[in-house]
Parts: sequence; C-alpha cells; structure tokens
Amino acid sequence: MNELLEKFENYLLENLPKSKTFHPHFETALQDMLKAGGKRFRPMLLLSIVKSKNPLLIENSLKVALAIEFLHTYSLIHDDLPSMDNADLRRGFTTLHKKYDEVTAILVGDALNTESFNLLANAALHNDIKIELIKLLSSDGGIDGMIIGQAIDCHFEKQKLELEKLEFLHLHKTAKLIATSLKMGATIVELEDELKDKLYSFGLDIGLLFQIQDDIIDELESSETAGKTTQNDSFKNSFVNLLGLEEAKKSADILAQKCIETLNSFDIDIKNSLEELLLNYINRHKKYNS
Ligand code: IPE
Ligand code: IPE
Ligand code: MG
Ligand code: MG
Ligand code: MG
Repeated sequence: MNELLEKFENYLLENLPKSKTFHPHFETALQDMLKAGGKRFRPMLLLSIVKSKNPLLIENSLKVALAIEFLHTYSLIHDDLPSMDNADLRRGFTTLHKKYDEVTAILVGDALNTESFNLLANAALHNDIKIELIKLLSSDGGIDGMIIGQAIDCHFEKQKLELEKLEFLHLHKTAKLIATSLKMGATIVELEDELKDKLYSFGLDIGLLFQIQDDIIDELESSETAGKTTQNDSFKNSFVNLLGLEEAKKSADILAQKCIETLNSFDIDIKNSLEELLLNYINRHKKYNS
C-alpha cells in the first residue's frame, strides 16, 4: 500500500466515531462502513495536493481528509437506502439498513455528516483556512452539490433526461465532491486562486469521468467483484442507459484524454503527486474496451 494511503488508513482506524451508550448496536454501525474499506479516492486527492506543496502539513490535514471520507461514506449509506437505490451490498458488506434497520442507516448517515464538520472545526489549522474548508465541503457536499445531484437522480428515475441534464446530474452528485477535495487541499497549502480554480475545474472532469466509469461498472461488473450491488441502474439516467455502452465508453475515453492533457499542464510537483494517484483512475474503464 502506498505510504500516504497507509497513513490515512491508520489515522481513520484511530479516529473512528464513537458513541458509548447502552444502545446495543449503534456504535458498531457507526464504524462498520468506514472500516469496510473503499478506495479512499477523495481523501487521497486532498492529501496528494498537500504532499505536493507542503509535506509538513500532511499530519494536520489528516482530520480534513477524514472529514471528506465521513461525508462521502454517509452519502453512500443514504444512497443505498430502500427509498433511494435500494442496495444490499456496499464495500463488500451487507448495507446497514439490511444488517440492522433503516433507522440505524439513516442516523449513522446523519451522524457521519455532522461529524465531518466537527472534524473540520477541530483540525489544527488556521481558523480562516478552516472556514474556507467548511464553506467548500458544505456547499459541494450539500445543496449546491451532492444533495441536489442525488435529488435529481432519484426524482428522474424512469424519465429520460437529455445529455446536458445528465451531465448536470453527474457533476453534482459525484464530481463536485471530488473537485472540492482537490480545492480543499489547495486551500490548506494556500495556493493562489487561479491554481485553486484550475484544480477545481480539473476535479470536475475527473469526477464526471469517475461517474461515467461507475455507470459502466454497474452495467458490466458482478456485485461480487464490485463489492456493491450492481446491475442496479436500469431505471436510472446513467451514461450507459442514455448513450449505450459503446458510446459511454467513448465519452469516458474522450474525457480521460482531456484529463491526461490537463494533468500534464500542472507544475511538476502537482503533476507528479497527482499522476501517481490518478493514472489508475483515469484509465479504469479501459479494461472493458474490446
Ligand atoms: C461510489 O464512490 C459512489 C460514486 C460517487 C460513484 P466510490 O467508488 O468512491 O466508493 P468507495 O468509497 O470506493 O466505496
Ligand atoms: C451515487 O451514485 C453517488 C453518491 C452521491 C453516493 P451511484 O448510486 O451510482 O453510486 P453507487 O453505484 O451506488 O456506488
Ligand atoms: Mg445512487
Ligand atoms: Mg447507488
Ligand atoms: Mg453507480
């Protein structure tokens, strides 16, 4: 395992959320999905930016990286609920509403959401930086980002959206949180505004690509290999449903090429640090190309 990822995983295990009461299973449930694993893509984006510009700040950034992973994990727990995607498997394990009950899954999601902002507030960073981080995560993980994306995703099931609206949906439900992870890293190391914005806009492309690939995975992977319920998008506005598998793959190829070009246009520190993390992701749909 890469050193930075290992550092993050250890930090996560040492800082799992706790609620020591007489509730028979809430504390275990709070921790289950965090311990279950996952790629940790968003925290690694943040940490890779910090590493590229000021490795001394990595330690103090771990809480912020964890906050992003908490918020993302909450979004997955709620995404799997019967009223949303109704999925039984996540990160290789039974989803919380199936293992326990729906109340537990809803409340664990709520807890991880609020706890992520508690983590941000408690990070050992300057207050003005923390306020910027809180603005970014609450906006891109909230009303202007993931939440409106999820609302549109669920509301328009069984109703075909045009491509432009599908892109809006994917940009909001997935890409903005990915883009903001890069920008939060850039905020910690105090990059100039122009570079922050360039990283954000690169993150939107990476995030859109990530969700197109996820749509392809839903179509082609078994639940067992994906570790989550797949073949679950039949009523969804997914790239595969709207464009067909081959066109979805072509869209992913075009976007991947654009991402590689942008990646190469960053300064050498950022390029090297992100490249290590991103090349696997940028190319992850290529194994399905015939
Ligand atoms: C799944 O995210 C939800 C999407 C936005 C596609 P990930 O594919 O990053 O899930 P984990 O964190 O690795 O489980
Ligand atoms: C979910 O998209 C995006 C989130 C905000 C969680 P999906 O519904 O496609 O994610 P998976 O395929 O269940 O991981
Ligand atoms: Mg969903
Ligand atoms: Mg889902
Ligand atoms: Mg999916």
